[in-house]
Amino acid sequence: MSFVDANTHVRGESLYLDDLPVVTGTLYACVYSSPVAHGRIRSLDYTAALTMPGVVRVLTAADITGENQIGGIVPDEPLLATDTVDFWGMPIALVIAESDETARAAVHAIQAEIEPLPVITDPREACAQGHLIVPPRTFRLGDAEAAFGACDFVIEGRADSGGQEHLYLETHGAYAIPLENGHIKLYSSTQGPTAVQRTVARVLGVPMHQIEVDVTRLGGGFGGKEDQANSWAALVSLATHRLRRPVKYVLHRMEDLRMSGKRHPYSSDFRIGLTKDLKIQAYQVTFYQNAGASADLSPAVMERTLFHANNTYFIPNLTATAYSCRTNLPSNTAFRGFGGPQAMFVIESAIAKAAEALGVATTDIQRANLLQEGDEFHYGQRAEGCEALHCWTDAEERFDLAQLRQEADDFNAHNALNKKGIAMMPICFGISFTKKWMNQASALVHIYTDGSVGVSTGAVEMGQGVNMKMMQVAAQCLSVGLERIRLETTNTTRIANTSPSAASATSDLNGKALQLACQTLTERLIAVARIKLGVKENQTVQLQDEQIWVDGQPGGLTWPQLIQEAYQQRVNLSEHAHYATPDIHFDTTTEKGHPFAYHVYGTAIVGVTLNCLRGTYVFDYVKVSHDFGKSMNTLVDRGQAEGAIVQGIGWMTLEDLQYNAAGKLLSNALSTYKIPDIYAVPQEIDVHFLDTPGSDYAIMRSKAVGEPPLMYGIGAYFALRNAIRAFVPDAELSFSAPLTPEKVLLALYPAFNPTLVPQTAGKASA
Ligand code: MTE
Ligand code: HPA
Ligand code: MOS
Repeated sequence: MSFVDANTHVRGESLYLDDLPVVTGTLYACVYSSPVAHGRIRSLDYTAALTMPGVVRVLTAADITGENQIGGIVPDEPLLATDTVDFWGMPIALVIAESDETARAAVHAIQAEIEPLPVITDPREACAQGHLIVPPRTFRLGDAEAAFGACDFVIEGRADSGGQEHLYLETHGAYAIPLENGHIKLYSSTQGPTAVQRTVARVLGVPMHQIEVDVTRLGGGFGGKEDQANSWAALVSLATHRLRRPVKYVLHRMEDLRMSGKRHPYSSDFRIGLTKDLKIQAYQVTFYQNAGASADLSPAVMERTLFHANNTYFIPNLTATAYSCRTNLPSNTAFRGFGGPQAMFVIESAIAKAAEALGVATTDIQRANLLQEGDEFHYGQRAEGCEALHCWTDAEERFDLAQLRQEADDFNAHNALNKKGIAMMPICFGISFTKKWMNQASALVHIYTDGSVGVSTGAVEMGQGVNMKMMQVAAQCLSVGLERIRLETTNTTRIANTSPSAASATSDLNGKALQLACQTLTERLIAVARIKLGVKENQTVQLQDEQIWVDGQPGGLTWPQLIQEAYQQRVNLSEHAHYATPDIHFDTTTEKGHPFAYHVYGTAIVGVTLNCLRGTYVFDYVKVSHDFGKSMNTLVDRGQAEGAIVQGIGWMTLEDLQYNAAGKLLSNALSTYKIPDIYAVPQEIDVHFLDTPGSDYAIMRSKAVGEPPLMYGIGAYFALRNAIRAFVPDAELSFSAPLTPEKVLLALYPAFNPTLVPQTAGKASA
């Protein structure tokens, strides 16, 4: 069994929030949201909505019993708008009705008079006007300014990357049920049950123990539900708190697209300095992050952008500065990679531009600067267990890069209208939450008297396979079959104070806690066996394959018998354990420390064939040598790598979020926002599991896998760029993702309109 949910998934029997049986008396909520991106609310009229049959109540900020505030890092985000609205889609009021249809219909009967205020959608413009979420930060190694003077070549440029819609299959939603004494049981489609619990308690003005949050699984999160499930949960809970009735809200796709935040678009300036031997001596980068209307997770995302400014290269003199810019867009949020991919796109752009200026292959610069064991990152940590070169050379040799190049060159020599392009994309991604305190987790294990086992952790299953991995950890530690183990829902009453399932660290953190709990139980059970079997001091007792072994021989006590014996002896068959990643620290005054438990490395070779008449393209292959460590589940890990690669390609080449100058989302449906489909998937994805030792901090030495492979998608951008160059060798190409077929076509024929060099994405305005 590779994936515990596979059976119920294929039968359509897996339960998501909207599948939970609805309790009698349940009411339905729907948000009335701002029809403009920035303005002052002059009046709000919902009398017509209230008179509609079936409408129970319309709630506004005035009905909030606690704080009208959901900002987790910066208190700058009201749950419901009061005097101003700051983005198109900002919740203003909540209709509560007897049916979902009635609630939605009533929303259309609400009217607000809003005096328009200036709309800013561009991060550079926001920055110029001083609209920053938090003060800028700068990370430094060496002295870039001085080092540029000693460089043979200095190249400058700009790189823009667009946002990305999470498009989890299951939209946001929450369902609150009132219990006695004001308690609320809340079902939420969230990666962060504790964040939901904390936010709801804050908005209602009640202690956290009044709120129980339960999560069975998500139909995808991708970061979009790390923090942004909070508002929907708080809204339904507010209604339940006021009305003492169950209240449910599951967003329609277009509501979700309009109201929820996305990956941060970034606009960046770079300057890169190299010596004749192609060593990068200096790199200076300024990131303008488009944060949207409120902080949400933007400061943490910005921090990870700074951490990953160098991707997988050693750059002795580096200065990276980041601005988190407040704009009138929905608040952008966590998205697979958490700001890392945006930083890596910039350094890869800088290297590509330098290669073009110097007339050398991009790969020559990449290869000459790969991190080596002991190299210092600009944040103080040193590369330990560095696999950068190993991954690169393995990819080069295993997949015969020289041959791939030869094939592409031959093809290009013989084809006038189709061109091939190839790019290498090496990656390095730090594993740990960048906030030290978030690197903790708990687990609770019950062994029932029949020998079956119930496991609870803080991990949320969102399709990434964490439940399967937790079952494997428990089965291995207790030496029992997987069929004895059941993964419980994620519940704040069973496991408190959880970090969100995020940062690719869920299996590491929760798995280590689970190991500790299982180890304690095993020790206890072995002590029971020793007494029961009358084992002598000098004899060894082991639990293996569901039975007790004494000095390597079957001891005559099976798992069920052992559990019965322990129970009869009144031995505790439950255990709760807590884990905190050791040895990590970071000092934000010096911007130095040891923030990551370990790094994940890998290298991809991406090949594309471009149709130069149409601007359409097919990715021929993505061939990867990846550092999984000792993968504990190769099917799950391969699935994560493949999914992440396709999602990365979507971000870089297809998914074009467009807001107009008034801040309205134009790409507001799947007809106008293109995510990868089966035709966008590379013809071949070949992921090689490189033989690497893993890390002590990785669960069973199986390295974190959720986010890192997404960044191979950046290789798709540069492969495509190289294919364009094969057609128009001297084209002036900007660095502006996504490189959509439309932009490719314009780049292929610059003579038709020299002003049409791709330049719009990344900037939110159209
Ligand atoms: N895979 C699936 N199928 N669905 C998801 O929502 N989220 C990604 C990644 N893989 C996601 C996914 C993100 S953003 C992260 S941080 C990790 O999974 C979280 O899970 P992990 O910590 O267990 O890797
Ligand atoms: N990744 C994901 N979520 C986070 C992080 C991170 O590094 N830091 C804080 N929240
Ligand atoms: Mo992932 S962006 O850390 O949820």
